[in-house]
Amino acid sequence: RILILDFGSQYTQLIARRVREAGVYCELHAWDMSDEDIRDFNPNGIILSGGPESTVAEDAPIAPQLVFELGVPVFGICYGMQTMTAQMGGKVENADHHEYGYAQIRARGHTSLLKDIDDHVTEEGHGMLDVWMSHGDRVVELPTGFKLMASTESCPVAGIANEDKRFYGVQFHPEVTHTQQGQRILERFIHDICGCAADWTPGNIADDAIASIREKVGTDEVILGLSGGVDSSVVAALLHKAIGEQLTCVFVDNGLLRYKEGDQVMATFAEHMGVKVIRIDAEQRFLDALAGENDPEKKRKIIGNLFVDIFEEESNKLKAAKWLAQGTIYPDVIESAGSKTGKAHVIKSHHNVGGLPDYMKLELLEPLRELFKDEVRKLGVELGLPYDMVYRHPFPGPGLGVRILGEVKKEYADILRLADHIFIEELRKHDLYNSTSQAFAVFLPIKSVGVTGDGRRYEWVVSLRAVETIDFMTARWAHLPYEFLDHVCRRIVNEVSGISRVVYDITGKPPGTIEWE
Ligand code: XMP
Repeated sequence: RILILDFGSQYTQLIARRVREAGVYCELHAWDMSDEDIRDFNPNGIILSGGPESTVAEDAPIAPQLVFELGVPVFGICYGMQTMTAQMGGKVENADHHEYGYAQIRARGHTSLLKDIDDHVTEEGHGMLDVWMSHGDRVVELPTGFKLMASTESCPVAGIANEDKRFYGVQFHPEVTHTQQGQRILERFIHDICGCAADWTPGNIADDAIASIREKVGTDEVILGLSGGVDSSVVAALLHKAIGEQLTCVFVDNGLLRYKEGDQVMATFAEHMGVKVIRIDAEQRFLDALAGENDPEKKRKIIGNLFVDIFEEESNKLKAAKWLAQGTIYPDVIESAGSKTGKAHVIKSHHNVGGLPDYMKLELLEPLRELFKDEVRKLGVELGLPYDMVYRHPFPGPGLGVRILGEVKKEYADILRLADHIFIEELRKHDLYNSTSQAFAVFLPIKSVGVTGDGRRYEWVVSLRAVETIDFMTARWAHLPYEFLDHVCRRIVNEVSGISRVVYDITGKPPGTIEWE
């Protein structure tokens, strides 16, 4: 296993994902991890991430000295290389100009890290690498025992190596895909230099998780709020495999789900897999609670609170339950812990079960806590969940409640569900579903005049929204083909009574958000 110490680079999570993709388990911890925790983790190798600070600054963060004393290989990336240099007795300076973007570096193939890895070879026989640079400071003096491993004109020391100690440093970012050979370099480090086998596979992840759930839970009963979303679905499948009948899922149908979603959840879990699922049909309660409310944040609160109330009522009936399972995943853990503490035990707020009262005295079971989203999906497929369910676009906890602008009414929800279903169905048919990150329809509570045949219509408007994004923090509106949009619009106006007009949202994020509320 690999330990990654985080110095705050925007790319640190990517390092962890790349290591996992190479089939090796790794964890991300704050740069000031205690010696005791480092020893407990017992890494086969350590990666020091990049970071926004300058090693030249006073109180600059440094790696625990233990990192260099454990006798395991160390790989410093960008800031990680600089702090390694400074800590081992070399010298780092503020560079005259900052370097950001593509660069070609000369890789010296004599080191075990870069040997035979290059993008092309010059006439003189030098191996060259196309890499992504992003740094201000630079190394100007190598520490004793290190040799030069890579260089560019503007950055004479772009890579260093101490083969005896198996310490390596690079100024560029192997974890970003712009660095063509980045994955190979990381794999060289973790497989060949650290000696970690590629055994972190969905099958092994499942086996390990099942064994550890069984050990933890014993013969206790577990409850899980199943939402139909990817994370809780994978938890359900995993727990079912691990403890079968000891698992009870509570599925609250709030009436704000997508077309036939409730039935699909029941079909997949209860009917096909034989999971014990209690379905609570709470549409009317949610509609009553939302009546008259226009404010998006208040609607979110109402939906979240009512979910907790209902979940609590149901869980109270399951007297034997000792554990509450949740679909918390690794990015939630990292993000909520921040770079400093690393270990906070946080309940995912939009899972909405965070408000369970203390008296329920349920212990938390979070079997996906160490997994990235792509690993969760692969695990879901491994556990036999339908591919389309596992690779579904994200859907917000408050569901259609925030896609019906203003007051939520059943009439609106029913219309919206149909329009949304047509849009999604056509996206799938035209092979556009997987190239968009999120797509849906939004109900606009305004009436517009239309004409069909000889009749005049005065009906509602829906907006279609489709975006492409990697992280959902920024997004670009999907440039769907005009013919496709035309086709979807015709179907919606013809097939969904109550809609006379369809518009397409061409706002990016920023300035817009992905959802309309
Ligand atoms: P925005 O609209 O903020 O959305 O650009 C970013 C991502 O978050 C989802 N989203 C939510 N998810 N509860 C959720 O579970 C919410 O209240 C909520 N609001 C937005 C949104 O669908 C998108 O994927």
